[in-house]
Amino acid sequence: MKRQTTSARQTKKLGEEMAKDILALPETNNAIVLALKGELGSGKTTFVQGLAKGLGVQSRVLSPTFLVIKEFELPHTNKTMLYHIDCYRLESSQELLDLGFKSIVANPKNIVVIEWADRVKKILSKDTKWIHFFVTGENSRELDVI
Ligand SMILES: Nc1ncnc2c1ncn2[C@@H]1O[C@H](COP(=O)(O)OP(=O)(O)OP(=O)(O)O)[C@@H](O)[C@H]1O
Ligand SMILES: [Mg+2]
Repeated sequence: MKRQTTSARQTKKLGEEMAKDILALPETNNAIVLALKGELGSGKTTFVQGLAKGLGVQSRVLSPTFLVIKEFELPHTNKTMLYHIDCYRLESSQELLDLGFKSIVANPKNIVVIEWADRVKKILSKDTKWIHFFVTGENSRELDVI
């Protein structure tokens, strides 16, 4: 599915809508993992802000570049935690494993969204849902939901 947006607000709205879709998915044995891929400024964090809003997160969602993993409680949903991960500064997938990634994705009560996910592709499961972000103009972006 390809979606075009012409403002950051619209990209946020798409994230918010996706939150509903995610919460409606049947529970499986693992976390729901969304892998975001796309150049700098293509709207990944903007999308995550909308996603978090749609999941009822109250606190401000910033890029977790320096922290790598940021977690948010999801008290208003049937899930427990949202993990926002940014792999931009990682040197290897092993660094993410060292931060406890395996146990995060093993918990079906977690929702995990990963920016620059292509950098850790080899440790992501086949069930991962990929979204590719493209800059198509100053204020326009294309999101390909795979
Ligand atoms: N249609 C649009 N969708 C999303 N962001 C847009 C759009 N048009 C303009 N922008 C601007 O582009 C920037 C997107 O920044 P954002 O931090 O979301 O990108 P990112 O993909 O997370 O970048 P990074 O790789 O550095 O983490 C913001 O400044 C936002 O206001
Ligand atoms: Mg970002």
